[in-house]
Amino acid sequence: MNSRLPSSTANGMPDSGLSAGALYRELAASLRASGTPTPELDARLIVCYALGISHETLVAEPERRTSLPARQTAFSYAKRRCAHEPVSRIVGVREFRGLDFKITPDTLDPRPDTETVIDASLEVLGSAPRPEGHRILDIGTGSGCILVSLLHEVGSATGVGTDISERALCVARDNASRHGVTQRARFVCTSWSTGVAGSHDLVVSNPPYIATGAIADLAPDVYAYDPRSALDGGSDGLDAYRAIIPALRECLVPGGWVVLEVGAGQAEAVCNMLATTAKAVGFEKPCHWRDLAGHVRCIGARRSPSA
Ligand SMILES: C[S@@+](CC[C@H](N)C(=O)[O-])C[C@H]1O[C@@H](n2cnc3c(N)ncnc32)[C@H](O)[C@@H]1O
Repeated sequence: MNSRLPSSTANGMPDSGLSAGALYRELAASLRASGTPTPELDARLIVCYALGISHETLVAEPERRTSLPARQTAFSYAKRRCAHEPVSRIVGVREFRGLDFKITPDTLDPRPDTETVIDASLEVLGSAPRPEGHRILDIGTGSGCILVSLLHEVGSATGVGTDISERALCVARDNASRHGVTQRARFVCTSWSTGVAGSHDLVVSNPPYIATGAIADLAPDVYAYDPRSALDGGSDGLDAYRAIIPALRECLVPGGWVVLEVGAGQAEAVCNMLATTAKAVGFEKPCHWRDLAGHVRCIGARRSPSA
């Protein structure tokens, strides 16, 4: 444990009378000293959640008084963060696409890079209007962040989210309700798209894509907290794509799009799989989208309208 956490927390007696702003500064210094990569951001999130105030309130009212229980909560959160637990895991919420998503130990902690999947999906949906509303299938939905964000942004769309984990689907249902899309979302416990009836105009997936042997090398914030089933993509990380792509024949309409998130260095292999199945499923030439760091983050391909 780092030595900069306020000494008074060691005996369970946090400093008395810290204002919200002083509490923030205290925690940011502690997190910085412990080597946490984003100390200011984490301290701000911790203080806001522990005090139940918005970021705007923290900035506008730094002299705001804090209660002893709230300070104790904030110090305990900071202690957990210093031990590598992500803030989103501590508070049970992750912001994705401007929406707060509940997360639990059964769900992947949604990553900002996955917002590239949303951008790509909106682009392809925009290129193929459907007056009756697009039908979306999200394979391996986890917290539901992809499907719920898309339904939130495309008011006429309906969607299905699948996952092998019923517990993850409970979280996805909660998130659909939280963001007002329950009436347009359905969640099914199944392997990939098995048994999902109906044709979809867009199939999206951020499947598990870490090679089994590489999981132990991930940062402790990842491998110790994300469920193994959300990470493990088999010996080369590509098992999920091998299962998902051929089955698109059954769930994607001719003229519809598939958008798949890929890991570092996997784009070419996934494009090759799409090309290999092109005869059976009828895909046109794949295209890609890059994340903010400039890495190819997702691959998309349209199923030929005449397929
Ligand atoms: C990388 S996580 C993505 C979660 C969420 N879509 C996101 O982007 O944050 C992959 C998800 O696939 C699910 N999964 C793993 N194996 C599966 C299978 N055979 N069928 C369906 N879902 C599966 C996991 O439970 C996990 O929720």
